[in-house]
Amino acid sequence: MKKFFAILMAAVLVMTMAACAGEGSNNGSGLNTVEKGVLVMATNAEFPPYEYREGETIVGIDAEIAEAIAKKLGLTLRIEDMEFDSIISAVKGGKADVGLAGMTVTDERLEEVNFSASYATGVQVVIVTEDSKITSVDDLFAEGANHTIGVQLSTTGDIYTTGDIEDAGLGTIERYNKGADAVMALKSGKIDCVVIDNEPAKAFVAANEGLKILETEYITEDYAIAMPKSNTALAEAVDKALQELIADGTVQKIIDKYISAE
Ligand code: ARG
Repeated sequence: MKKFFAILMAAVLVMTMAACAGEGSNNGSGLNTVEKGVLVMATNAEFPPYEYREGETIVGIDAEIAEAIAKKLGLTLRIEDMEFDSIISAVKGGKADVGLAGMTVTDERLEEVNFSASYATGVQVVIVTEDSKITSVDDLFAEGANHTIGVQLSTTGDIYTTGDIEDAGLGTIERYNKGADAVMALKSGKIDCVVIDNEPAKAFVAANEGLKILETEYITEDYAIAMPKSNTALAEAVDKALQELIADGTVQKIIDKYISAE
C-alpha cells in the first residue's frame, strides 16, 4: 500500500511538473508585461463597433482581437478604458502593454510607439444633417467656407482638419472627448459637421435621426496595435500572434461579426 502511494505521488508530481512546463512555455515565454500574466490593453470605449460598452463590459472588434492575442500568448486580458488622448502615453509610459482603439498609424505616433501590422482599414468621413448645405468633402476646403467642424480630440479627424481647415483659415474645429458628443452637438445645431471614422459614423447615424454620411471620403487609413518601443520582445510576440490570427481568418471572422458587408 505504501509503495502504491509512493508511485501515485511520483506520478502526480511528474504530471504537475509537465503542466507547469506547458504553462511556462506560454505564460512565461519570457514576456515582460505591465502585470505578470496579464496583457493590459488601453482603449477608449467610445468607438463602436471597435470598442464600446455593453452594460459594464467593453466589447467590440478590438476587444475580441486582443482577447485572441492574449490567449495565444497565455496571458489574461485586462482592458483599461481611458480618454483617446491618453492611450499613447499609457503605452509609452508603461501603464499598458498594448493600445487597441481603431488607432491609425501616423508618422507622429510612430515616433512615440511601435505599431503592429495593420488589421483593418478606416476611412475618415463627414457626418452632416440631412438638410445640410455641405454636400461633399471639398465644400469644407472651399475659399471662405468657414464651417465649424466637430471631431474627437487628438484623433486623426482632429489632426487632419486642424491642418487642412483651421490652420488654413478655412474654418473652426470643435474638439470633443467623445465622438458621440460631437454628434450631439451636430444634432443640436452647434456645429456644421463631424469628421470621424466610417464605422463609428455609421453607428452614430443609425442611432440618431436626421443625420447622414457624405458619399465622398476624406482619407483612408490603417488601424494597428500600438506597443511600447522599449519592449521589443512583447511587440514581436503580439505582432506574430496578430499575423497568425489574420492568416487563419480569425480577425476577419471577428470583423464580420460586428460589420455586415454591404
Ligand atoms: N482612427 C482614428 C485615430 O486613430 C480615431 C480612433 C478613435 N478611437 C477610439 N477608440 N476613440 O485617430
